[in-house]
Amino acid sequence: MTQNSRRVKVLVTGATGFIGSHLVEALLRRDCDVIGLDRRSPYTDPIARHNARSFLQKPAFSLVVADLIAANLASLVDGVDCVFHLAAVPGVRPSWDRFDGYVSANIESTGRLLSACAEAGVPRLVYASSSSVYGENSTASREGDVAQPISPYGVSKLAGEQLSLAYAKRPGSSLRVTALRYFTVYGPRQRPDMATGRILAAALTGGQYTLYGDGAQRREFTYVSDVIDATIAAADVRENAAVVNVGGGTSVSMTDLIALAREATGKPVPVKVTSEQFGDVTATEADLTLARTLIGYQPKVDLRTGISRQAEWLRQLPPELLGRYISRLQNEEVAACSI
Ligand SMILES: NC(=O)c1ccc[n+]([C@@H]2O[C@H](COP(=O)([O-])OP(=O)(O)OC[C@H]3O[C@@H](n4cnc5c(N)ncnc54)[C@H](O)[C@@H]3O)[C@@H](O)[C@H]2O)c1
Repeated sequence: MTQNSRRVKVLVTGATGFIGSHLVEALLRRDCDVIGLDRRSPYTDPIARHNARSFLQKPAFSLVVADLIAANLASLVDGVDCVFHLAAVPGVRPSWDRFDGYVSANIESTGRLLSACAEAGVPRLVYASSSSVYGENSTASREGDVAQPISPYGVSKLAGEQLSLAYAKRPGSSLRVTALRYFTVYGPRQRPDMATGRILAAALTGGQYTLYGDGAQRREFTYVSDVIDATIAAADVRENAAVVNVGGGTSVSMTDLIALAREATGKPVPVKVTSEQFGDVTATEADLTLARTLIGYQPKVDLRTGISRQAEWLRQLPPELLGRYISRLQNEEVAACSI
């Protein structure tokens, strides 16, 4: 992320989302000029407003509220040194019912963006892929494993990832692509549909957390600042087309996660147990060998510390935003552990 004589100019898609807003902050701290694109406006959406509040007025930041499927991308990517493509519709379980939205946002929009980047000669793109592309794996997932997603969401992320790599591998292409397979990301500003925040909110408010399955389901949880370090480092990868896992370093059961939430809040977590959801894999675990060698990645925040920080953030949240988490506690239409 360095240019000798001038400031680096980047485009972040999904800029007012959970991970995107942390990325914008980190890039601004590195003196980049940042264009943020998102279809959620901070002027109308309270979560987007909360996420973007630290950088919305910064002179080095400009926000474009637009949908990637229709935006004028040629002018947006003009002169950009790196595109960080995080915009997507996330979540495993709703993808069974609303796949058209996933196709439009995660595949077609990615195609439009890649075409605009190729046309404008953008040199680099970092794609936010997902551990969900792996499907069921009984051992730690490696980038060379056959990807066999078991949810429509995973399929859409794999399509976006492979499309990005295809653009990089095209003969004569000047676009280098690094796809990062994030493993369940948590921390402040986490999406309200995700498990960690709902478990903590249940503890803090006395609401009930719906656990899908027997609690033995395991996830590799990754603290958001570690994900951001990896994402920025990925912009300097020399390979034309690379895929790299980004995990937190350990895989833990949902039962252990609930115990950590109890410890962090000092309160019990009321749990209602229900059946497993199809599309949620039994376990995720990342092999981080390639991440270490290719981007010098080493997760720094352990789960206990990260959960405490997320609990503290939830405690400080304005009541109307905490309400978003609480309403999810009563709504079983969300995935047990969206990834
Ligand atoms: N959170 C995780 O655990 C996790 C794990 C693996 C991969 N990922 C990937 O990381 C990225 C960010 O995830 P997140 O958890 O921050 O989600 P998020 O929903 O908080 O952020 C995504 C943002 O993208 C925007 N967006 C979606 N479609 C768009 C479109 N067509 N045009 C413009 N904006 C659009 C949304 O409005 C949203 O603000 C996604 O690509 C997701 O698939 C996340």
